[in-house]
Amino acid sequence: MRNRINQLKNEINELTAASMEELEALRIKYISKKGEITTLFNDFREVANEEKREVGQLLNDLKNAAQDKINELKESFSGNNEADQKSDLTRTADPIKLGTRHPLSLVKNEIIDIFARIGFTIAEGPEIEDDWHVFSALNFPPEHPARDMQDTFFIEQNPDVVLRTHTSSVQTRIMSNQKPPIRMLFPGRVYRNEAISYRAHCFFHQVEGLYIDKDVSFADLKQALMYFAKEMFGPETQIRLRPSYFPFTEPSAEMDISCNLCGGKGCPFCKHTGWVEILGCGMVDPNVLSGVGIDPEAYTGFAFGLGVDRIAMLRYEGITSIKLFYENDPRFLGCFRR
Ligand code: PHE
Repeated sequence: MRNRINQLKNEINELTAASMEELEALRIKYISKKGEITTLFNDFREVANEEKREVGQLLNDLKNAAQDKINELKESFSGNNEADQKSDLTRTADPIKLGTRHPLSLVKNEIIDIFARIGFTIAEGPEIEDDWHVFSALNFPPEHPARDMQDTFFIEQNPDVVLRTHTSSVQTRIMSNQKPPIRMLFPGRVYRNEAISYRAHCFFHQVEGLYIDKDVSFADLKQALMYFAKEMFGPETQIRLRPSYFPFTEPSAEMDISCNLCGGKGCPFCKHTGWVEILGCGMVDPNVLSGVGIDPEAYTGFAFGLGVDRIAMLRYEGITSIKLFYENDPRFLGCFRR
């Protein structure tokens, strides 16, 4: 009996199988109901009582070793097996995983839709710009702090080439090339050398609006912005215009909307004021108009620049940091199906 056990143990150690069929034959040979090891268990009855304990142990070890070996061989086949399945041309194809739109694109498109309904069309401009389009044509004096290294990313030590700090540079491009009436939106990414926090990033997104025609007034600007705020955030939304300064608009204002995360009661996002700033705006400065060849006696216009990231944070509750937009974590991006 001991000899037979040892012999089978050696055999099993050496086992190989070239196919699933061969493996099945081995399983039948050794561990099926009529297999050699099972037969040994039957013979076990005849083993002398004083040897039963030791031989029983050997027999169990043999059975386990055989089972392990067969499992091991089976595993080495399962890889091949999958390949067999893959080459089955009649199998239904794996479903194609569809991506989702980025939340900033969803919000940008929503902004564009809202203004498209009152006649605004779209244009885009380059992110790498020259000083004239970003600053000079927009009435920035040479020593203005926005040109400073603090705010602007300059390229390769050439102070004339910058990453645009605002989409107002596209205003310059369009006004220089088109005659009024102009009623357009300029969406795009902008860059500022700012410390990154949960509310601010070194790049973010704006949608610029520009309307130039005869008799455009500040009342028209306010009405357009009020319409936008109510379409975007709901009819109960309040707006607040605060006097401000931009070199290219006069008068200038910043617009806040009632914080719709806390309903105006005050929360960390609105710094407990109940209001959140979402855009800068104003009447296009006559100097800017004449600089690009539009007669300021005949035409007036308004412009505004919306912060898309800020609006997205208000639109979708629970985005606790602007950084989430740029980490591209699929668990975050997958939340915005549309
Ligand atoms: N360009 C300004 C900014 O980035 C916003 C703005 C746009 C202000 C248009 C007035 C008119 O802050």
